Amino acid sequence: MNITIIGCGYVGLVTAAGLAEFGHLVTAVDIDRIKIDLLNKGKIPIYEAGLKEIVKSNLAENRLVFTADQKKGIKNAQVIFIAVGTPPQKDGSADLSQVKAVAKEIAKNLDDYKVIVNKSTVPVGTGRLVQAIISENAVSGSDFDVVSNPEFLREGTALKDFLQPDRIVIGTQSLRGKTVMKAVYQKLERDKVPFVFTNLETAELIKYGSNAFLATKIAYINELARLCEKVNADVTIVAKGMGLDSRIGPKFLNVGPGYGGSCFPKDTKALVEIARPTGERLSIVEAVVAANESQKKLMFQKIKQAVGSLKGKTIAVLGLAFKADTDDIRESPAIPIVKRLLNAKAVVKVNDPKALTEAEKIFGNLVKYHDDIYETLEGTDAVVILTEWDIYRKLDLVKVKSLMNTPTLIDLRNIFTPNELRKVGFLYEGVGRGAIE
Ligand code: UGA
Repeated sequence: MNITIIGCGYVGLVTAAGLAEFGHLVTAVDIDRIKIDLLNKGKIPIYEAGLKEIVKSNLAENRLVFTADQKKGIKNAQVIFIAVGTPPQKDGSADLSQVKAVAKEIAKNLDDYKVIVNKSTVPVGTGRLVQAIISENAVSGSDFDVVSNPEFLREGTALKDFLQPDRIVIGTQSLRGKTVMKAVYQKLERDKVPFVFTNLETAELIKYGSNAFLATKIAYINELARLCEKVNADVTIVAKGMGLDSRIGPKFLNVGPGYGGSCFPKDTKALVEIARPTGERLSIVEAVVAANESQKKLMFQKIKQAVGSLKGKTIAVLGLAFKADTDDIRESPAIPIVKRLLNAKAVVKVNDPKALTEAEKIFGNLVKYHDDIYETLEGTDAVVILTEWDIYRKLDLVKVKSLMNTPTLIDLRNIFTPNELRKVGFLYEGVGRGAIE
């Protein structure tokens, strides 16, 4: 099939590469010409496992082409995926200006029957809006269907999530649209991946419902962690014990400094805003948003409590990415925590295997950047672990201790066990680890 993806951001790029891998002829469009030139040379602007290889091989086999010519992309395609950004506005609601602009452009260039697929995370009702924009702006009688096909990709494992998903959600009431989408994902149907066929609005809400639920799980375990510290319980064991119940499941019960990234913070707030005009109040999601904010503040308090006065102290921060295996620092809990450390007049030395370039755009010369972990630790009064990178788990703790002024380790991802650290002579603070082993 001829498929066009509009928007070569994170989702668009993975979708384009994944669909080309399924054997389709994919045109990926972006208005950023510099990005397009780089992509055509096989250079990927983001770090995502396996993406570079798959883009290169599909470019070489002529199944994938990048272009800034949106018009051409639209005209050539049987199916057009809209994968442009929907950034949050001040009130938390999603900014749909890019989606609307693309819908108008599609309308202007609509010739044969096309299926237009909303891949971007968009508020409930956006599918209908795209439908209306295209109808209003297209030559009368033009034939098309709009489909909602939300993505469930996790950064770091996005390609694997695309090629081997848990499910495919297709929102459309058109039989023709449904048939075309089945052909798009024929490979996955053969692989026995479950498909959920429903209407536009239900598909749109499945996306928000899933993200907000996962965010709730995290906020919930983070809240329990606070209680664990007060009652001499260990949250990692509480989570393990809870997770073994198949109705609960073990995933997304890892405590931390609060969820971050470009999705959960944005989508939980957007869901609250989607509900507001309907008169329904999503009090649980509202509480999750508030709990996540307070988690970041509490984690700073934890550092302060362990270190004492921060003024003039040198603090090593290990990890800035919002989670491991990505260079993404959008809404990373590390950012407000580092900012608070700086406000408290601490000297901050930072390390991250992938995110230092991005971090520099935020912190400029306010912090010291180190590629080498041990160099980051030299002469520090405390070390704070903010991202669960594997390389941090493998640190030579005796060496770490010898490099620091005072061996204080605040492990906001619980990558170590308290006893292991205390044996080496660290003052160790984890999250929710009240129990004495
Ligand atoms: C999330 C969802 O997991 C994807 O299914 C979804 O497609 C994506 O958002 C999206 O809407 O595009 P992602 O933002 O890549 O994916 O990251 P997650 O792995 O879900 O982690 C989100 C945040 O929660 C991170 O800050 C992570 O550290 C935190 N987290 C995750 C925890 O604190 N504890 C956990 O147990 C799991």
